[in-house]
Amino acid sequence: MTIRMTERTLVLVKPDGVKRGLIGEVISRFEKKGLKLVALKMVKFDRTKGEEFYSVHKDKSFFSDLVNFITSGPIVAMILEGDSAISVVRLMIGSTDGRKAQPGTIRGDFALSIQDNVVHASDSQESFEREYKVIFRDEEIISNY
Ligand code: TYD
Repeated sequence: MTIRMTERTLVLVKPDGVKRGLIGEVISRFEKKGLKLVALKMVKFDRTKGEEFYSVHKDKSFFSDLVNFITSGPIVAMILEGDSAISVVRLMIGSTDGRKAQPGTIRGDFALSIQDNVVHASDSQESFEREYKVIFRDEEIISNY
């Protein structure tokens, strides 16, 4: 018996990825994998939004650098839907540190830094529920097509 678990996950192309022209490359990988794009927008976080998005890291030494980075330019946010989307997308983006991420993953192929690592993806259902609401209203998710 195959267990199928349709999930949604939030992905961001971070400011470095947008500046380097990697929006299409990132979206293309997820589309080819068979994940369904159900919401998409370009936004620029102000400081309040950046701090809210990364609130789980507020006590970390890298927090203010991280907020500076995520507010440094536009980002492209998307919600992807599919079987086991959360774990599948985490596998496809690779380890946090681009220097250690496996070749073939997005970070493994395009990042050489722990901070400037091209993409964000929710790491759990709870993270997704919290994170997507920082960016999207429920009416902006279009899944019935
Ligand atoms: P984290 O949630 O641990 O990683 P991931 O993005 O893989 O879920 O960290 C969030 C972001 O914080 C990470 O993408 C890059 C940044 N970061 C640093 O700048 N320095 C660090 O030492 C760590 C662990 C993360």
